[in-house]
Amino acid sequence: FSPALVDSFNRHHDYLRISLTERCNLRCFYCMPSEGVDLSPDGHILTNDEVIRLATLFVKSGVTKIRLTGGEPTVRKGIDDIIGIALFLRGNYNNHPSPLGRINELRKYGLKSIAMTSNGISLHRRLPHLVENGLTHLNLSLDTLDPFKFELITRRRGHEAVVKALDVALASSLKSVKLNVVVIKGLNDAEVFDFVEMTKDKPLSVRFIEFMPFTGNKWDKKKMVPSSELLERLSVRYPDVHRAPEELNETARTWQIPGYQGSFGFISSMSDHFCATCNRLRITADGQIKVCLFDAKEVSLRDELRRGASDAELLEIIGAAVYGKHAKHAGMENIDIMCLSIAPGPNKPGSLV
Ligand code: GTP
Ligand code: 5AD
Ligand code: SF4
Repeated sequence: FSPALVDSFNRHHDYLRISLTERCNLRCFYCMPSEGVDLSPDGHILTNDEVIRLATLFVKSGVTKIRLTGGEPTVRKGIDDIIGIALFLRGNYNNHPSPLGRINELRKYGLKSIAMTSNGISLHRRLPHLVENGLTHLNLSLDTLDPFKFELITRRRGHEAVVKALDVALASSLKSVKLNVVVIKGLNDAEVFDFVEMTKDKPLSVRFIEFMPFTGNKWDKKKMVPSSELLERLSVRYPDVHRAPEELNETARTWQIPGYQGSFGFISSMSDHFCATCNRLRITADGQIKVCLFDAKEVSLRDELRRGASDAELLEIIGAAVYGKHAKHAGMENIDIMCLSIAPGPNKPGSLV
């Protein structure tokens, strides 16, 4: 494990989230304004080669899990190629000629999973191909089972397409399928029971996410439902509910109802943060390393790549950024600081992705 990926609190970062695009085909009100956000010029976005170069460097340094995010990652052209190359990094490179010509060296660094977080809008037809190309884990965002509310939340149509994508995902050989539900008081919080019922016959993990603030995203404490409150409500309906085992560094606290195939959990970023066990780093679509979701500070790797930096030079920059990572975010008592720390501008697309 490269020391560059270890911070001053001895947290080892083996999980890299790579944003492939700032673009999105939805306009969820908690994420961006209806008119969308200013996008970086195309030339500022990492090219495929640059994404691969960085992914390779991080995998060689100890990263075992890569999550592709956005915006909406499927909106990026050529995404299949990128996943194909990620597959190559894992060693299953037969049908994927090496873009880097470093087969043996890379295999032993052992990338284990290639995950994606997607809103599912344009996924159902492409998913089989993505899985064939190496995708192992999928987190799908779906906040409501009601097509009308879906339109209210996302300001677009497409509920049916997402549900279809979920069915295709569940029938595929993916190792895990999770459903992300951002819970908003008075809007979809009464639906938690329906979501939990989906886990009865489906090997699905539903996660209820606390609504998080950033500048300009219409956050209001009154709209946030603390996970503890949801659990209380669910425990009345399901007295036998019990804690389920979690993966290491899992952001969700997971629960299960006896006899149900799937599970449900809570991502309580606001009320009970999980910073102490954080193992994540991020690369933004425009090639900045971001060491914490709640830290606006970004360091450009793209500029270094384009000036011809060597791997050692890149690692030095990465190492300095990682070493400066804070112990934890500002917390709910300091919402203003928290908002400002997530998005440097009025709004950056997919700030919470
Ligand atoms: P896995 O644990 O790999 O399944 O992914 P995840 O649940 O962390 O990622 P996903 O992209 O599905 O995001 C789910 C929710 O977790 C979103 O609301 C994210 O904003 C939130 N989230 C993701 N990473 C972090 C993080 O580093 N810190 C905090 N506080 N929240 C995060
Ligand atoms: N609060 C909580 N979760 C959010 N997401 C986007 N914005 C917010 C927010 N303000 C979620 C999306 C998606 C995941 C990547 O982040 O719903 O599932
Ligand atoms: Fe798009 Fe995800 Fe933001 Fe919704 S939350 S607008 S799907 S990036």
